[in-house]
Amino acid sequence: MNQNDKIELKLNAKTETGKRSVVVSGARPSGDIHLGNYAGAVANWVALQDTYQCFFFIADYHALTTNYQDTSLLRQRTLNMVADYLACGIDPDKTTLFLQSSIPEHAELSLLLSMLTPVSWLERNPTYKDLLNQLTNLEIRTLGFLGYPCLMAADILIYLAEFVPVGEDQLPHLELTREIARRFNYLYGTVFPEPDALLTKSRVLPGTDGRKMSKSYDNIISFSDTPEIVRRKVMSMVTDPARIHKTDPGHPEICTVFAMHKEFNPHEVDEIESLCRAGQIGCIDCKKRCASRIAEIHTPIHEKRENLLANKSYLLDILDRGASVARPRAQEMLAIVREAMKIGFGSGALPG
Ligand code: TRP
Ligand code: SF4
Repeated sequence: MNQNDKIELKLNAKTETGKRSVVVSGARPSGDIHLGNYAGAVANWVALQDTYQCFFFIADYHALTTNYQDTSLLRQRTLNMVADYLACGIDPDKTTLFLQSSIPEHAELSLLLSMLTPVSWLERNPTYKDLLNQLTNLEIRTLGFLGYPCLMAADILIYLAEFVPVGEDQLPHLELTREIARRFNYLYGTVFPEPDALLTKSRVLPGTDGRKMSKSYDNIISFSDTPEIVRRKVMSMVTDPARIHKTDPGHPEICTVFAMHKEFNPHEVDEIESLCRAGQIGCIDCKKRCASRIAEIHTPIHEKRENLLANKSYLLDILDRGASVARPRAQEMLAIVREAMKIGFGSGALPG
């Protein structure tokens, strides 16, 4: 196969299912989706489905990079994530939703890319350095953890993604993806486009204690919480500590409840801001309004995900459907990459 054939195959792969630009993103099966994820990544994914050809996957290989020692929750967490995504509005008729490990071509491409990825690129990755210092209990001085960005590059490049919706923390990984693609193209001929980030809006939703909403702080409101628990969590949120009496003027900018109004209650947020500053609304009333607005969003998603979780075979079907769309594309790309690298002899061809 010469260079031109390669490029033609690549174009075929691209236009097979329509001409929309390809978007790829993944998320580790970390547990249940919470309101912070919903306001950030998930809402973004839902919004992209109409405009782009989206490949979204549960990154279970990636989960192993830090949690290989205890995989007991991996399957349940994966199912929970699928149920949460569907309940939040990911539409399997629009989006290819699948499980990373059901397409082992991701792993093969990662291996091939690892051959040309300098260790120094991986070691200088800031996320790697941070996590190495933070997760001292996990024994993650492993090849898999160091090579994580290489696997992520494979995830992205295998579908010839043009755009990758990620949070700011993932930007160094995306830059590495671009560098790996560039190096591959330089060595073996142009195969991969360099993908661009679609930055998820960086506004961080605070959790019930006022710190960033995160599972590791135990301050989340998740879609697995019952409506009653959600109401209690909202009612116990930290507010402006200077407000003791209803008539004390408040400072909404430092209040967690206000941050929730800002994110989820656009119609009332201005009114609440002025009532709070003027000392004309009590924090309890304000929280009640917040709780009922959050319930409007949370309760239907919670109920839907509970129903979905009761039907495991349906969830597995959705993942299978996604994999059957993703797999032929990944296989075709692998054939192109193997050809470019002169690995093997292609499909049954004799050595020339
Ligand atoms: N690294 C991402 C995270 O930890 C998850 C991920 C894996 C990903 N592969 C990806 C994101 C490919 C975007 C594209 O959140
Ligand atoms: Fe926060 Fe509302 Fe109390 Fe103001 S009135 S401090 S916004 S809870």
